Amino acid sequence: MYFDTHAHYDSHKFDDDRDAVLSSLPGLGVDFVVDPGCDEASSRAAIALAEQYDFVYAAVGWHPQDLKDSWHDGALAVIRELAKHPKVVAIGEIGLDYYWDRTYTDLQKEVLRLQLALAVELDLPVSFHDREAHGDSLAIAKEFPAVRGVFHCFSGSPEMARQLLDLGWYLGFDGPVTFKNNRKLREVLEICPMDRILIETDSPYLTPEPLRGTQNHSGNLQYINERIAEIKGVSPEEMAAITTENGRRLFRI
Ligand code: NI
Repeated sequence: MYFDTHAHYDSHKFDDDRDAVLSSLPGLGVDFVVDPGCDEASSRAAIALAEQYDFVYAAVGWHPQDLKDSWHDGALAVIRELAKHPKVVAIGEIGLDYYWDRTYTDLQKEVLRLQLALAVELDLPVSFHDREAHGDSLAIAKEFPAVRGVFHCFSGSPEMARQLLDLGWYLGFDGPVTFKNNRKLREVLEICPMDRILIETDSPYLTPEPLRGTQNHSGNLQYINERIAEIKGVSPEEMAAITTENGRRLFRI
């Protein structure tokens, strides 16, 4: 029924209950999960989970928040090698994050370009993280018209969404779509074609209403899916089927 296209089950926050949570997901209607890596260790951990669970797939890459201390000259070759694994379906989580630390934006942009070029080389889609970096993210996405992928947890304007959609991107919607004061996200969803919407939890983060304050997991996709179905004027069942189909198309599952 549901496809969670972005959940970090390799996170240490799942150390106490990882297997219990993952084992429960098929019973909660979760048919597919993509776990994106954030550096070498978490990319390897995501692959290990994909080997252990049929319904889990991995993405490999360096997250902008994690590269300041861990990126090195051989890092791109590591990603290229890990991406050969049969359950690796994307390059990610990659992107720009100017929220936490703006002291190394040049390095962030350089590493993003390298990973986007690798995605083109390997013909893999990407999972793109853009936090408080909308202008640079859009500009760099435009430099790589051959890249396919999803703007994960989209937080830009309807105008930015329009430009990304025209370039062929998918948009990922997470817990914030269930929060109050989500007028901008609602406007984005109104212009987003049905075949470009993906639903994501970003577990263990971004828990949707009405469960804010608890640790997130893919079983909570139902709340995100329901809210989007309401905005788009379709049944939750139809919305779940369409977003699952979208995920399978983008990640070729
Ligand atoms: Ni993430």
